[in-house]
Amino acid sequence: MNNSKALRAIRGRLFWFSGDPATSGNNFLSFFEDGMIIIQNGLIIDCGDYSDMSALLDCDSKIDDVRPNIVMPGFIDTHIHFPQTQVIASYGSQLLEWLNRYTFVEEQKFSDEEHSTRIAKYFIDTLLRNGTTTAVAFGSVHPQSVSSFFLESSTRNTRMLCGKVMMDRNAPPGLRDTAETGYAESKALIERWHGHGRQHYAIAPRFAITSSEAQLEAAGALRGEYPDCYVQTHLSENKEEIETVRQLFPKAKDYTDVYDHYGLLGEKSLFGHCIHLSNREIARLSESSSVAVHCPTSNLFLGSGLFNWRRLRADGVRVGIATDVGAGTSYSMLKTLGEAYKIQLLQGNTLNPLDAFHAITRGNAIALGLEKLIGTIAPGMEADLIVLDSSATPEMAHRMETVNTLEEELFVLMTLGDDRAIKSTYIMGKIAVKK
Ligand code: GUN
Ligand code: ZN
Repeated sequence: MNNSKALRAIRGRLFWFSGDPATSGNNFLSFFEDGMIIIQNGLIIDCGDYSDMSALLDCDSKIDDVRPNIVMPGFIDTHIHFPQTQVIASYGSQLLEWLNRYTFVEEQKFSDEEHSTRIAKYFIDTLLRNGTTTAVAFGSVHPQSVSSFFLESSTRNTRMLCGKVMMDRNAPPGLRDTAETGYAESKALIERWHGHGRQHYAIAPRFAITSSEAQLEAAGALRGEYPDCYVQTHLSENKEEIETVRQLFPKAKDYTDVYDHYGLLGEKSLFGHCIHLSNREIARLSESSSVAVHCPTSNLFLGSGLFNWRRLRADGVRVGIATDVGAGTSYSMLKTLGEAYKIQLLQGNTLNPLDAFHAITRGNAIALGLEKLIGTIAPGMEADLIVLDSSATPEMAHRMETVNTLEEELFVLMTLGDDRAIKSTYIMGKIAVKK
């Protein structure tokens, strides 16, 4: 090969999903005990068994040999709040009190661009250290929070989604925009950032309680003007929240209908939580191809309730999974899976490790419609990859002595693992974190 100097390769125990374990029979998993991925210009050009792949390389090719560690696609987090890195671990309250007591206080600091810039760096560093290579983030109401985020993400060349929250009522004055400014600021950010390199914009009316009807209408108008952008918000997280929405929108059939009325449902719409939905709401989410995003550590931390993954999937709702930091208590998608497992068990269901690891890679990529770019390993895919050590802690190493199958190993990772299990993170084939 003439251009083989530009090739780089990662050799390790290779693993990815090419199908959904829940629906693809036996043909959903690729695993190579001694595998190799070949990368050129940030993209995967080939992958498979080392003995087949090594023939493509020459002595100039750079090979990272990470055996016996696992190499897999980077994790995808479909709901997280970038201005809440100093809200995480705030004591003692459920959603509405937690928002007023902690979150709305902290988010006011993001009017300061210097603060936004510092937190954006910390935030993306922390995601990458946890093996998360793509995230869907809420900014604060201040457009500069989103600019800082996208600037930082562009510098790292990470594929990220973000949007400024629109909120024009039921929030402190320093955190309110208006229907008009929320629209104009979001539009300017979309024009500047959506489709700029690997950045995507997510229109973000925070939730029905903090947006007037005029503002929800403006969000719907933006969605109509920019159908390629995402919509992200919160839905049916907490009973007191649902009752407040009922009082604020007496004509709506239910909470989902509030967003539906303004044209905010659809295949690019991501609804955080979706815990206490009626049959009608589930049917509407399903019909509209909207995505329900499960946030297990957050739902336990705020005492919000138990997400019924099995029921939603059975009824045809597309599902994503996410940390929801700072109500969520960990940036780690491994810890997120561990808590998701417990939430399903409390409802008499289960979450097997293959479904779980599919969810945080290919599954979340599909939820975002980005499965042709990220979330799996195949020629042409972007080389956002991680290296995992299943024996990263003494407790994990001890338990691994009795593990015989990949499935058991993955369950150890999701039950005992966290950022310590992530040994390195690659963005477009380049090392972004190496421990
Ligand atoms: N609902 C509206 N805003 C928020 C938020 O910041 N976190 C959570 N968990 N729920 C919300
Ligand atoms: Zn949230």
